[in-house]
Amino acid sequence: MGRVAIVTGGSRGIGAAIARTLKEEGHQVAATYGGNDEAAAKFTEETGIKTYKFDVADYEACKAGIAKVEEDLGPVEILINNAGITKDAPFHKMTPEQWNAVINTNLTGVFNMTHNVWVGMRDRGFGRIVTISSINGQKGQFAQANYAASKAGDLGFTKTLAQEGASKGITVNAVCPGYIATDMVMAVPEKVRDQIVAQIPVGRLGEPEEIARCVAFLTSDDAGFVTGATISANGGQYFA
Ligand code: CAA
Repeated sequence: MGRVAIVTGGSRGIGAAIARTLKEEGHQVAATYGGNDEAAAKFTEETGIKTYKFDVADYEACKAGIAKVEEDLGPVEILINNAGITKDAPFHKMTPEQWNAVINTNLTGVFNMTHNVWVGMRDRGFGRIVTISSINGQKGQFAQANYAASKAGDLGFTKTLAQEGASKGITVNAVCPGYIATDMVMAVPEKVRDQIVAQIPVGRLGEPEEIARCVAFLTSDDAGFVTGATISANGGQYFA
């Protein structure tokens, strides 16, 4: 059965793979994006998936953006909190701006989106929420105090809402990707990236589609007994 799904940060990288996969599963998908108009236009042209531009760090923008999606497609039944940024720096060099930007997008953004679909999901007795956390929220990562804190926060958020949503037909889960071949990982200096790949037992970066398939399972009607879970998809780099 097709459902209405929103994927944040859905026009590029892992989010784009998730949006495409959910569409293939028969869902009506809306992809949000923060700033890259060109990538969003290309994505819509290729996939037919409509994009919505707003900042997940802005509560009122999320409220208005979700209202627009609901006007276009109907009540949101599936939310994928994927939008995320990095601003890496060793802690002694990390600025309050770098800290706040990452927390506001990766953690508060998840609150902003989820809070604006939660009551509707409760009232209708169905919901699927998946948040894309990270291996680095599980194990920590040099130069990522902000990012690791935000992604670890996403896991605590997920486990709490899983408890609150369980009696209302809402499942809330997280996926922790390892290093995936996206713009974000490609921005890591090549030498550092090579060192990272050397730590991945499968011997390569992951593909965005490998994360999308985890999300497809968690959002399926068949996955109603899976809630509060964290699926690690990291090529064996870390066993949480
Ligand atoms: N462990 C221990 N020490 C490290 C280190 C590491 N992983 N990386 C760097 N260092 C050390 C350096 O050797 C250097 O030591 P000395 O000062 O004693 O020489 C020190 O840290 C500082 O190095 P730099 O001067 O090069 O630091 P910089 O201010 O230029 O910052 C950096 C460089 C931001 C750390 C850069 O190396 C970097 O981007 N590293 C990658 C961080 C990373 O893995 N980010 C993940 C991005 S992908 C992602 O986040 C997606 C996901 O979910 C998985």
